Amino acid sequence: MMDALQAIENRKSVRGYTGKKVEKAKLETLAKAGCSAPKAGNFHISVITNPALLREIDEKALAAMKSRGGFSKQRAELEGYGAPALFLISASDASFKETNASCAATTITVAAIALELASCYVVSPVGAFKDDPSLGKRAGIPEGYAPVCGVLAGYAGEDKFSNTPPHTVTVGYVE
Ligand SMILES: Cc1cc2nc3c(=O)[nH]c(=O)nc-3n(C[C@H](O)[C@H](O)[C@H](O)COP(=O)(O)O)c2cc1C
Repeated sequence: MMDALQAIENRKSVRGYTGKKVEKAKLETLAKAGCSAPKAGNFHISVITNPALLREIDEKALAAMKSRGGFSKQRAELEGYGAPALFLISASDASFKETNASCAATTITVAAIALELASCYVVSPVGAFKDDPSLGKRAGIPEGYAPVCGVLAGYAGEDKFSNTPPHTVTVGYVE
């Protein structure tokens, strides 16, 4: 298996997947990786592989993005990557919910690389759940929790686009 540093270095967002299903053992390893992340609160990970539900979440997420206009609308033309699994991370409206969910999501993306899977950190599904509260029950989200972010995972297909973000990350050593 790939070592941790290599997996971190090789992680990137993949926006296109083959139809191949992810093996149950790999899904379980990814879920376990999410549970092992640093945390300062409770959260729930829904591992969604039901094709009809994934399609519905995807369609509703696209509709939500389009209705919001601007960058979201532009991006919606490109979303819908056909991943066979979505790790949706939900939490109650408590302090640090975004941070907790993001730590878990990041751990999942790195573990995916170690398992020779591709992944993409996404917030786009959140809009689908806001617009259709009935989705929450079907996704097994506990009462009082709402989705914060997710990770798409699967076998890499043809990438729809890669994003070179304009964000700057700086490092300073203070000795
Ligand atoms: C908070 C957050 C939200 C994101 N939401 C989305 C999303 O909804 N759809 C998507 O395709 N990528 C999304 N991304 C992935 C970023 O676009 C991606 O990580 C960034 O462009 C850097 O590229 P890389 O992951 O390949 O290094 C999100 C990333 C973060 C941290």
